[in-house]
Amino acid sequence: MQEVLRELRAYLEWARQAGLQNLAVSQRQPDVAMKLPTLESVREQMGECTLCKLHKGRHNIVFGVGNPCARLMFVGEAPGEEEDLQGLPFVGKAGQLLTKMIEAMGLRREDVYICNTVKCRPPNNRNPEPEELEACEPFLRGQLAAVRPEAIVTLGKFAAQALLREATPISRLRGQWREYQGIPVMPTFHPAYLLRSPQEKGKVWADLQEVMKKLGLRK
Ligand code: URA
Repeated sequence: MQEVLRELRAYLEWARQAGLQNLAVSQRQPDVAMKLPTLESVREQMGECTLCKLHKGRHNIVFGVGNPCARLMFVGEAPGEEEDLQGLPFVGKAGQLLTKMIEAMGLRREDVYICNTVKCRPPNNRNPEPEELEACEPFLRGQLAAVRPEAIVTLGKFAAQALLREATPISRLRGQWREYQGIPVMPTFHPAYLLRSPQEKGKVWADLQEVMKKLGLRK
């Protein structure tokens, strides 16, 4: 039953974004209305994106990686240098710590889906700008509509503030369930921050345990 509700919610959210306002419209456009995006179709739609200026400095688009049917999605900020070179999210030092966090939950990296709020590396790892975020957000929404996770973990201040559209400090956002596109969101600290402040690991573990509880995961 929960799976049916999740699918229905994802479909309705996707239909709303696609501009299908009511059932009468969707009945008249059955091909559009009945097809949820797939990760492949979203990536294809992105192509060699030039919607914002970040495309000028990138080596690779860092789209996302993981299980296309993941129950859990991690959303970080933006690719760093290593991610830009490899075209994969969270493969540097912070990524290695993220892998350990996932494994501590009793999962493997391949079980979850990992992506970022923006898919191209900002110069010198600066924060993405509002118009870059706005240009890239439809692709994140497409990824969510394709994967239909039961929960999202945002990593760090930027991802949480960008998805939740508020400037509350991450120290206050973390550990509290919120929502994005009808999906429960658990904001937590970024693994790069944990590398600098390992004494904060306990808080992140508490947040991840909340996620495990919601998903009925046991270690
Ligand atoms: N930090 C992020 O937020 N995302 C990555 O992919 C790598 C580092």
